[in-house]
Amino acid sequence: MTKNKFYITTPIYYTNSKIHIGGAYTTIAADVLARWNRLNGKSVFFLTGTDEHGQKIQEVAEQSGKKPKEFVDEIAKGFKEAFKLLNISNDYFIRTTDKGHEEEVKNILQELYDKEYIYKGSYEAYYCVGCEQYKTESEIIDEKCPLHNRPVELRKEESYLFKLSKFQDKLLKEIKSGRFCILPEARKKEVISFIESGLKDISISRLKERVYWGIPLPFDKNHTCFVWVDAFWNYITGLKENKVFEKFWPVDIQLMAKDIIRVHGTIWPALLLATGNKLPKTIFVHGYFTINGQKMSKSLGNVISPTYLVDKYGTDSLRYFLMRNIPFGEDGDFSENALIERNNNELANKLGNLISRVSTLAESYGLKKKAGIQLSSKALIKSISKYFESLELDKALNEIFAFVDKCNEYIQKNKPWETHDAEILYETANAIKDFTILLSPFMPETSEKISRIFNFEISLKSLKSPLNISKIKKSDVLFRKIDSTIDIGKLGEEKQKNNKVNKSSKIPGIMTTIDFKDWQKIDLRVGKIEKVEEIKDADKLYKLTISIGKENRTVCAGLKKYYSKSELLNKKCVVFLNLAPRTMKGQISEGMLLAAVNDNESQVILISPEKDIEVGSKIR
Ligand code: MSP
Repeated sequence: MTKNKFYITTPIYYTNSKIHIGGAYTTIAADVLARWNRLNGKSVFFLTGTDEHGQKIQEVAEQSGKKPKEFVDEIAKGFKEAFKLLNISNDYFIRTTDKGHEEEVKNILQELYDKEYIYKGSYEAYYCVGCEQYKTESEIIDEKCPLHNRPVELRKEESYLFKLSKFQDKLLKEIKSGRFCILPEARKKEVISFIESGLKDISISRLKERVYWGIPLPFDKNHTCFVWVDAFWNYITGLKENKVFEKFWPVDIQLMAKDIIRVHGTIWPALLLATGNKLPKTIFVHGYFTINGQKMSKSLGNVISPTYLVDKYGTDSLRYFLMRNIPFGEDGDFSENALIERNNNELANKLGNLISRVSTLAESYGLKKKAGIQLSSKALIKSISKYFESLELDKALNEIFAFVDKCNEYIQKNKPWETHDAEILYETANAIKDFTILLSPFMPETSEKISRIFNFEISLKSLKSPLNISKIKKSDVLFRKIDSTIDIGKLGEEKQKNNKVNKSSKIPGIMTTIDFKDWQKIDLRVGKIEKVEEIKDADKLYKLTISIGKENRTVCAGLKKYYSKSELLNKKCVVFLNLAPRTMKGQISEGMLLAAVNDNESQVILISPEKDIEVGSKIR
């Protein structure tokens, strides 16, 4: 093992549905840490990937009429493409259906069996297929798993069990001593009290006749391996496949959210101890975030796709927002409007304007080295290192942007557009170099662009040496300002305020006229209704899952009186996409369907394209 190495992992994501913003969040955070360590000269291995076996995936593949392998191949491809779009610098992408991984898992299962850590018995407990986890009584509310709002199943079956209970004392010792470090402290306490309440042996197999989509146990072909045991081992196989296990194990940081800390704090280290492997150094549990105040989950269907956000706002805007808005380690909320606000105020106004201003002025008046520095970045470099050490990523960004403010104030105070002072411009450009290098793990693409304008390298060496440039070309615009989503109540409002004519020019039957400019803001698309669901206590609304090509939208529509479920299923429709989301009967509705409605509302008829046209097509 090299001292100067850094191995970081994300959880491997389930391939029961496409990537959502939650998985993107963990992976971006891991990417930031991987890039920071590379910048600091460490030899880095960054692993992410997909978790592709198990009952949940078997079920959705069957429902979609596909073979599980065909199904997961498509989803895994989507994950890889999304990670590319998000500029993720992973060294390897592991899939649990990789042959090498499957062999490796069979080997450890055999080893555990030979060492008598696995024995045959029977198992009875409540199980949530959504979590693919057994649940204790305290984790069940009204016979349902609160995470997935899905009834738990009482299962009793012949099964192989792993002697988890045997590791209880050793695990407590390792966790309490900090050798196996779980952060933040509150999560460590949670795991400790969970273990202290008593660890039971766990089932690690499923009958093949029920769950065939799994790795067969090497010592009993009638059983497949429990998906979690298979999944944990990715952290080891990922290295072995690349022949770097000796160099990188044990893992330095494993990132995840609170949903999977209990299993990572118990089963995972117990498997490592049982196979004679060292334990991870640190598990860091970041916060769980909600969407506009609501819990997000694949199973609940209110997911946001990161590729949709990248298309709309750009990779670095999204990376910046996710890392800055939610204190790392705490729960938080995601809202598109907050993203737009930060993009406009912090990226376009503060950072973008500074770069554009300084490069434009320097193109005209040049840059001249100056002795004695007022805009020193020494303190900044120190505090950023400290924040990376303590994994306070949002605070690192806060500091960098406080320094950007300082640069803006410096320019404002010294007015080089009046003085033509090339020394002031040099000093600011040198400060730009420094904060840009520190910003590069968070916003790699933007940092590259800035480094090309000011002609420096993104490296530690360049951070330590003064900028070496006297001439420069002004930059292109780095960030576009974005209009917020449309709140339908506000359409035409401004026009009415300023223009009395508008009121008197009302067309009978039409509430208000709107500007062509407003009309152009409306994003209408052809959608296809993929799923129709009831909403509890709603007598008018259906919850519809609508495909608009690249992503699915959840729309709550008052169509129950007018359409049966089967009439709606697979119907093409017109979706108003950029309507601000609304909560209806506890569900988030992310758009609206267009329909023709007669005066007394006895008829409501969905608007549908007359001929067949691709889903996602624009309505103009
Ligand atoms: N396949 C298992 C993990 C096996 S690892 C050996 C799994 N997959 S998952 O697709 O459900 O991903 C869970 C992880 O995705 C969380 O632990 C977290 O890293 C990330 N997130 C999913 N939703 C999230 C939020 N709403 N907020 C923050 N992180 C989110 O569990």
